Amino acid sequence: MLYIAILGNLPEMAMDEVKAMLELAGGEIIGKDYLLLTVRADESAFPFLNRLGLAHEYGKLVLKANSVQELLQKAERTEWPIQGVFKVETETMSNCIHDVIDIPKKLGAVIHAQGFRVNLSAPDTVVRVYCGEKLYAGIRRCFFDPKEFERRKAHYRPFFRPISLHPRISRAMVNLTKAKREILDPFMGAGGILIEAGLLGLKVYGVDIKPEMIAGAKINLQHCGIRDYVLKLGDATNLERLFPEKQFEAIATDPPYGTSATLAGRKRNELYRKALRSMYNVLREGGRLVIAFPITFDGKMEGEKIGFKLISRYYQRVHKSLKRYFYVFEK
Ligand SMILES: C[S@@+](CC[C@H](N)C(=O)[O-])C[C@H]1O[C@@H](n2cnc3c(N)ncnc32)[C@H](O)[C@@H]1O
Repeated sequence: MLYIAILGNLPEMAMDEVKAMLELAGGEIIGKDYLLLTVRADESAFPFLNRLGLAHEYGKLVLKANSVQELLQKAERTEWPIQGVFKVETETMSNCIHDVIDIPKKLGAVIHAQGFRVNLSAPDTVVRVYCGEKLYAGIRRCFFDPKEFERRKAHYRPFFRPISLHPRISRAMVNLTKAKREILDPFMGAGGILIEAGLLGLKVYGVDIKPEMIAGAKINLQHCGIRDYVLKLGDATNLERLFPEKQFEAIATDPPYGTSATLAGRKRNELYRKALRSMYNVLREGGRLVIAFPITFDGKMEGEKIGFKLISRYYQRVHKSLKRYFYVFEK
């Protein structure tokens, strides 16, 4: 059993991202306590879980308890899989109903009594205790360092355009497609989504209507060490011509929203409708499209009209004048 702590700003999207990775890895979510998921999966799922964008950490779940007393009793009967020196940390979620203030000391003493040494400044093993409605103790296996994602934000890239999604969200969009080999972004801009996909080892295909974006996205991809890419100058409403005979495994994209120059002179809703149709035509049967639309466009109705099946959608308020849905469609 594993535990996975997801981020709280888009919790449904975060949970579905985990689900998508477990569908690839073999495993399932069996419990949820606020932002803590309990998962049936083994170590073979780690390479897929390592892909996550909207997660805080994951690890091996060692025990679950209804009270602090029960936690400590169970801890005494547990053979702790500690390597080297260890430390206990607690994470108090906003639904926590237990008094966990002494847990690091008390649980630390129980584990210490089994012959393991504590080291608070440089532990080899971190024992994590999550408090929600219940208590969960586990061994951390992976921490998704926010600094890693921050470093890839648009303004740190050599080619900068202020139109990019947060890398964590781009990463989650890629994962929600369940892509294993390749992905297309037909409105790639500066390449934010393609960077996240490329870092996962996917072959990336990008299209943009502006030549400076092709040059810029190439610089950004190379800057991130991504070599397996195909970038084409062209129109997202005519992908069949750009990629004759090609049926993509997956598509993730963030089309232009506004009245700004990024629409390249087109009427927004008409651009969306035509692009949806074209994406449908170049997506393989059973393939997924993950796409963001402002809430003023009925993506569900327009997607279903074309033949897409809506799997889910997630609402996000970016600021007063930008509220959007992320849609997951399947062909
Ligand atoms: C919101 S930006 C994409 C940002 C991108 N997701 C990123 O993270 O960098 C939209 C991009 O779509 C491009 N675009 C606009 N109309 C297009 C069309 N008809 N076909 C292809 N690209 C188009 C714009 O030039 C712009 O670069």
